[in-house]
Amino acid sequence: MKISKIKINGMTNPVGYAFDSVRAAWLVTETEAKKADHVRIEAAEDPGFENIICTKEGSALDSAGEELEIRLKCRTRYYVRVSVRGDNGEEAVSEECAYFETAKREEPWLGSWIKPQPGDRFHPIFEKTFSARGDVTDARLYISGVGMYTAALNGEKVGNETLTPYFSDYHTEVQYQTYDVTDQIREDNTLCVELGNGWYKGAFGLSYTSGIYGSEYQMIAELHLKYADGSEDVIASDESWLYRGSDTEDGDGIYDGETINRLLWEGRDNPKRVPVSGGVEGSLTERYSVPVTEHESMPVRQVIHTPAGETVLDFGQNFAGYVQFHADLPKGTRVVLDFGEILQQGNFYRENYRRAKSQFVYVSGGREEIVKPRFTFFGFRYVRVSGWDGEVDPEDFCGKALYSEMEETGFFVTGHENVNRLFSNAKWGQKSNSIDFPTDCPQRDERLGWTGDAQVFSGAASYNMNTAAFYNKFLHDLRTEQVKLDGILPGVIPVLDPENVAYAAVWGDIAAFLPTVLYERFADKKALEAYYPMMKDWVDRIDRDDSARGHHYLFNFNAQMGDWLALDGRSEQSMKGGTDDYFIASCYYSMSAKMVSDAAGALGYTEDRAHYGALSGKIRRAVLREYFTESGKLAVDTQTGYITALYSGIYREKERLVEDFRTRLYKDCYKLKGGFVGAPLMCRVMAENGMEQEALYFLTQEGYPGWMHCIGLGATTIWERWNSVLEDGTMSGTMMNSLNHFAFGAVVEYLYRDVAGLKALEPGFRKASIAPQISKKLGFARLSYDSVYGTFRSEWKIQKDGSVNILVEVPFGCSAEVELPYAPALDKEVFEVGAGVHEYTYQPTKNMNALYDKKTLFVEMVDDERAMEAIGRHTPFLKLLLDQRDEEFLHESLTGLRELFYMGFAEEQVDALAEELLRLEG
Ligand code: BGC
Repeated sequence: MKISKIKINGMTNPVGYAFDSVRAAWLVTETEAKKADHVRIEAAEDPGFENIICTKEGSALDSAGEELEIRLKCRTRYYVRVSVRGDNGEEAVSEECAYFETAKREEPWLGSWIKPQPGDRFHPIFEKTFSARGDVTDARLYISGVGMYTAALNGEKVGNETLTPYFSDYHTEVQYQTYDVTDQIREDNTLCVELGNGWYKGAFGLSYTSGIYGSEYQMIAELHLKYADGSEDVIASDESWLYRGSDTEDGDGIYDGETINRLLWEGRDNPKRVPVSGGVEGSLTERYSVPVTEHESMPVRQVIHTPAGETVLDFGQNFAGYVQFHADLPKGTRVVLDFGEILQQGNFYRENYRRAKSQFVYVSGGREEIVKPRFTFFGFRYVRVSGWDGEVDPEDFCGKALYSEMEETGFFVTGHENVNRLFSNAKWGQKSNSIDFPTDCPQRDERLGWTGDAQVFSGAASYNMNTAAFYNKFLHDLRTEQVKLDGILPGVIPVLDPENVAYAAVWGDIAAFLPTVLYERFADKKALEAYYPMMKDWVDRIDRDDSARGHHYLFNFNAQMGDWLALDGRSEQSMKGGTDDYFIASCYYSMSAKMVSDAAGALGYTEDRAHYGALSGKIRRAVLREYFTESGKLAVDTQTGYITALYSGIYREKERLVEDFRTRLYKDCYKLKGGFVGAPLMCRVMAENGMEQEALYFLTQEGYPGWMHCIGLGATTIWERWNSVLEDGTMSGTMMNSLNHFAFGAVVEYLYRDVAGLKALEPGFRKASIAPQISKKLGFARLSYDSVYGTFRSEWKIQKDGSVNILVEVPFGCSAEVELPYAPALDKEVFEVGAGVHEYTYQPTKNMNALYDKKTLFVEMVDDERAMEAIGRHTPFLKLLLDQRDEEFLHESLTGLRELFYMGFAEEQVDALAEELLRLEG
């Protein structure tokens, strides 16, 4: 037995965070035991556990998180150890030395905010020299700076984080970070802190305004040195520090980029000056952002010399971060890097970045060095290099993917190459849009915390990675705004104009949806409790505004964003689709109310549970009255209409709704229409409502519009629009057209939930359902998912002889309801299994090698010579129509053909054709 991965509040060895409570989680692996008989958690202030300050033990302790009662002191490291005895008597104690460490908590700051003298507009670099009095056993730096800071001690960067102190509503608070710098301390030391503009004072927000939160560079720091003799020194920021101009030219920003000019001060005086004392509006708070660090190193795949004569680096993958390069250039060389996502007519292109200049400039001082920006990031695949001295050597350049630290938890592969690519594209979409908070896109003059995008993607995101701590930060920021907005959960943060806030469904519903996702995936009840007021306030606010005009129990007011970027709007380029906004909004209102009720249930708030349950029911009934005919037909006859009704469970009769949905798809020639509301859920809703085949069709069909279509056109991330890039490779427009928006990538949740079939029945997957949906099209699927309790696996493959092999793994302490598809005897078998690996091989009741059935669309047969030959023989007229690529007949099936007898498709002909087609195997 092995105990590992001890986490505190969802993080590994967190240092300097705001610990409102302390929750320890752990993992039990390498054991024959199925569950724990006894668990003991101990916390101590020393790694040897001589002085234990907290013990918690029992048989029912939850490895996904147990709260520890510790009266936390400031600037203290606590060690945590876990021992488990399994139900088979096996015992183990955690081996790794897990810890967490507090920052200053309530302790007053000795350091004060300092800033350059009035009139000094340049980028400052502050410095302090000091000597250590003796043997330093422990050194901690507590530091913040606005807009952004980067610190170096004795010439070496402090920590491995970028873009600190991260985004906050700086009117309210500014985070500070804590670094263990013990190993960097020498006898004589220099601490340097350089500041950039960042989100705080650079151009930011839809209005592209600078200085939203302040206009001055400021910093604050305390360096605590502990000596071997027990004494302490504190080096605190004050007027004894000095500053001078750095080599960064002013004008840097999140959108615009950065210029490092090694000759900036050449021939000019840059004396060290004395700072003045300052102060910021928001209060200093312990960090709640998880570190943003460099992850994948991206090599240059190709150096392209474009028709326009440009030199362009192709990294082969769209991502967010920056480029690092090795410079050994003559003094004065000015290198300009421009960033783009796509080439147009073979040339560099960046019009879709709109006002964001997205440029990195470097002026060489003639010194060899490794160069990279510090105060910005870019979203890109291509980089135009101008001004380089000589031929560009790809080895000199390397892309660095930047995102918030999150453990990757979902790994999925099938026998369908482009489905695998889609999975990868969605993950890259997530990585690129997880720089401190979930953003809509990482490249243009936006990169904002659009709540709808995050809501839509959060389910998929939380299978892909352990998002608990990352989203906790976003929820913290959202709550900060919500409190100021009297319950409204804004459509986007930052909120720049509180008078004109987007108060809309789907976006605002993140208030209830995100905490629900987090509780389902990570089983953190304490977190649910913390988010509960946010969930409730959102629903209460709508309820209040609804009752003010006489309680309709509908969210049918306010400007809504509707089915954003759907294709059935006024035109294919419209922002909004054709589905009734208020129908969508009211269904989401009902779901949010239900989620508040469920959360109340989990937290033991009985009255609330009943109240919000009843409210949800009232909304449901109001939706049925307003948007359904008396006999149960949905009056909102759009794809997203049906998807939303099925997703929210609002209908009079499900079978009827599903049938009408099918008719809608037929009328749409099976062309996907949905936008942000419909499309991400489409396959999942289909797969979970008896439309397995349709789900797979929409996922894998290659024509426009669809996921595979984008991949066919070269997508390496998820596009904002279905038609972001047209068939001929040109961008469809520049007004709002990003190639790295994750919303439509949420479809991968269907791969986890339905294709691999892994769903949580109890929070954290303590009890899971594993019900894979197998298909010839995918051939096999292998999922491995690292839940908070351990690794689940769900794997299936269709073997040559047509038999099915299924492998399921359930981690320690968990159980799963397994459903074997097309298992003999019953049509499917459901049974419960405990921890361990379980494997099944059987001959399915359905011929899994058959390529077609009566519902298969002819479009799926046109490349199959055998099928086309049979069609030509039995129904020559149909063959003619298919050869002519007749849209309607391409999207017809054997079932449909039978009803077209009046066009000459005689019953016997169709039956004979069917018999042959249904026999074809692949
Ligand atoms: C963003 C979207 C966002 C939308 C809502 C766009 O500009 O990029 O993803 O959700 O606005 O209005």
